[in-house]
Amino acid sequence: MDFQELVKFRRSSRWLFNNKPIPDSELKKILEAARFAPTPHNSQPFEIIVVKDRNVIKELSMVGFRLTKKYVDEHFHWVRYSKEELESKKDGVFIDVLPKFVNDLKDDPKLITDDNFWKKSMELYSILVQNSAVLLFVIYNRNKPGVGPLKHVWGILSIGAVMENIWLASNDLGISTQLISGQLMNPESVKKIMKILKIPENQGYKLMLIFRLGYEGKYGKYGTKYRRELSDFVHLDRFNNKY
Ligand SMILES: Cc1cc2nc3c(=O)[nH]c(=O)nc-3n(C[C@H](O)[C@H](O)[C@H](O)COP(=O)(O)O)c2cc1C
Repeated sequence: MDFQELVKFRRSSRWLFNNKPIPDSELKKILEAARFAPTPHNSQPFEIIVVKDRNVIKELSMVGFRLTKKYVDEHFHWVRYSKEELESKKDGVFIDVLPKFVNDLKDDPKLITDDNFWKKSMELYSILVQNSAVLLFVIYNRNKPGVGPLKHVWGILSIGAVMENIWLASNDLGISTQLISGQLMNPESVKKIMKILKIPENQGYKLMLIFRLGYEGKYGKYGTKYRRELSDFVHLDRFNNKY
């Protein structure tokens, strides 16, 4: 795909993939893109775990999470309820592409403490994870930061560069991706994932990103392409001068 086209096409695919496996040759291209991400002092402070083994994927899919009321309240600040709202605000996520269980939490806030609700929600979530052809885990290695007082800020910024390279390379190859961050916000879930993946504890490894990858199924749920205009955020020469 042409670069400008690819950047605008890149998207979150929030639904089931089909069962087609991803060939190793394609996976390798995605990993090569990660390999060449810019990092502070070329420190390359990341490790990536590619999970293809169906048993390991299944085990990982069982690691659930719970959201806090604070998270749900903050989340709904960014939820948009119509195309018109998206068009006028030019940010946020359309409600239809979000997982139903999160929307249920808004309609009935009591559910946040309902064990049965979380059990059912996590069962559905695990189907989504199990349906992935591959899971990719990106880990920040705190032992290889940049330098100076902002060393870990630079290090984590470079994880963002790895993220974007993986995402663009996948979508360019026709492979869909979704970042799944629910577990990452829950220390107990992170611990379980680290254990399953045998990531050494207390050695400076921090799990930063979980990608599910696969080929698109018949139906899709995608992110929105609404973005602010350049004139909304670009300034010319000085902050008070719009581009
Ligand atoms: C750090 C980060 C974490 C994200 N976590 C999730 C997530 O847990 N689940 C999800 O569906 N999308 C997640 N997203 C995707 C964003 O919601 C998405 O990029 C944004 O809404 C724009 O949509 P697009 O990716 O389709 O262009 C995440 C994105 C980033 C950068």
